Amino acid sequence: MDLIVAEDRSDLVKARGEGRVALVPTMGALHEGHRTLIREARGRADQVVVSIFVNPLQFGPNEDYSRYPRTFAADLEACREEGVSVVFAPSVQTMYHPDRQVGVSSGLMGTLVEGASRPGHFDGVLTVVLKLFNLVSPDLAAFGQKDAQQLALIRRMVADLDLPIEILGVPTVREPDGLALSSRNRYLSADDRRVALSLSGALRAGAERSTPAEVRAAARAVLDEAPPGLAVDYLVLVDPATFTEVPDSYAGEAVLAVAAKVGTTRLIDNVTVTL
Ligand code: PAF
Repeated sequence: MDLIVAEDRSDLVKARGEGRVALVPTMGALHEGHRTLIREARGRADQVVVSIFVNPLQFGPNEDYSRYPRTFAADLEACREEGVSVVFAPSVQTMYHPDRQVGVSSGLMGTLVEGASRPGHFDGVLTVVLKLFNLVSPDLAAFGQKDAQQLALIRRMVADLDLPIEILGVPTVREPDGLALSSRNRYLSADDRRVALSLSGALRAGAERSTPAEVRAAARAVLDEAPPGLAVDYLVLVDPATFTEVPDSYAGEAVLAVAAKVGTTRLIDNVTVTL
């Protein structure tokens, strides 16, 4: 079946087939991590819709919206190869009316950790994701665990707003040396890339420990030994459902998450740790 490119709601209505529909929301610049999301979605639905939309609402004024990689022709090819039925690629004008006023609030969780460094980011993410859900009407939507706080907030939105959509979290895909795949990795020079390995190295070191204090100390030690060029934004060990720091007495699953700038590129990564 030929890949259909839809630009608005009426195109989506025409393209909709019978059976279960899975949505894979993306901002394009597709890599193996996105391909994994698509394959997982395909195994659970009759039709996969991939949205490609660089969402201005989730970028702060000094962030990389204008230089975010845009590789539409290659993205379409990847979608064809992965058996996607529909690519939804709306324009900014189609998604956002100039007089828009109402959006989704990501609440307290949206102001913590990544949200503390990027004010308004998660409101922008949830607003676009809710709009995509309303436009595509999927039965299921797939998101990567690499954006763990985003995934937790989307699950929260689905629960709090009673959205009839199953959310599938898909494990992070890594390079053989541990670097988590990200569309932003293409900004990294060979030197930056070596520096960036401290992030996954810190998470691996933390994940080998079993108490909160040990996990934090082991991960911090790797970051402290990182080559010059790494500016750590945060290293946190948080409850996966609330993204609040876990106390030293905590037992159960927690998320060890890190964010840092390598040169001018901001990277995030996380692992789940059992305490
Ligand atoms: O994870 C992303 O690529 C984006 O945050 C998403 C979910 C597509 C919303 O713009």
